[in-house]
Amino acid sequence: MLVTRDIERTRKAVAAARAAGRRIGFVPTMGALHAAHVSLMEAARRAGDFVVVSIFVNPTQFGPGEDFDAYPRDEGGDLATCENAGVDLVFFPSVAVMYPPGAVTTVHVARLTDTLCGPHRPGHFDGVATVVTKLFNIVQPDAAYFGQKDAQQLAVIRRMTRDLDMPVEIVGCPTVREPDGLAMSSRNAYLDPDQRSQATCLYRALEHARSRIQTGEESAETITTEMRGIVENAGPCRIDYISVVDPASMEPVTRIAGPVLVALAVRIGRTRLIDNMTVDPRERTP
Ligand code: PAF
Repeated sequence: MLVTRDIERTRKAVAAARAAGRRIGFVPTMGALHAAHVSLMEAARRAGDFVVVSIFVNPTQFGPGEDFDAYPRDEGGDLATCENAGVDLVFFPSVAVMYPPGAVTTVHVARLTDTLCGPHRPGHFDGVATVVTKLFNIVQPDAAYFGQKDAQQLAVIRRMTRDLDMPVEIVGCPTVREPDGLAMSSRNAYLDPDQRSQATCLYRALEHARSRIQTGEESAETITTEMRGIVENAGPCRIDYISVVDPASMEPVTRIAGPVLVALAVRIGRTRLIDNMTVDPRERTP
């Protein structure tokens, strides 16, 4: 496994793989790698790709007072995880490499970022869209793999690649969960044992929504009110949002008549957790 820290060497390694007839599969990450990241690397490997992983804690997607400084960093552990997962190339740039002084260009994806996490994290999706554009320009992948857990991010990146004619296939991969349903996230490491058990309320609320929608409930307001009850009963928390939205546009839905994305963001202590589920009312449970 090759590790590069500058753009030129990264481009050279990728060009050599492409010249050897390989398709380039790319998994952008912020490190603190866990089983969900490994599932993205495995998806790229299953596709037969030359697998490139980037590890970069991107400062521009963190707002003031967010956890940029505290975000877990583990270079040795992350490189071992990549090696074990059969990754071919890890791009591990510094902030200076990614954002040389004087950089003033950003990418903004409108409308899709007006709901869910957008209003609660001003500037976050501009930071994501900008760094992903830069990473795509550096790695020039044929396909890039993202987790469905960050459903709004996935929708933003899909729209950005379409609108800006980026020749990259965006592959969405299923959310990986702990045995009790908690979606895997690098931020789960912040939770103390009580908060960790409280955190299962996100998945329980989503499962409740799925079951209610698939047994005929059509009112998004009824669903979100019931979900709020489940989350609030679990313990002290601050709910950023609980929403039912269109899975492509991220716009709120009032009457559920087709597939919807049910999504929530909840702060437990200082940890902000997000989760979501795509639910199709036509897939009725008995
Ligand atoms: O999902 C993440 O880990 C980040 O938002 C990403 C896509 C690597 C951009 O920094």
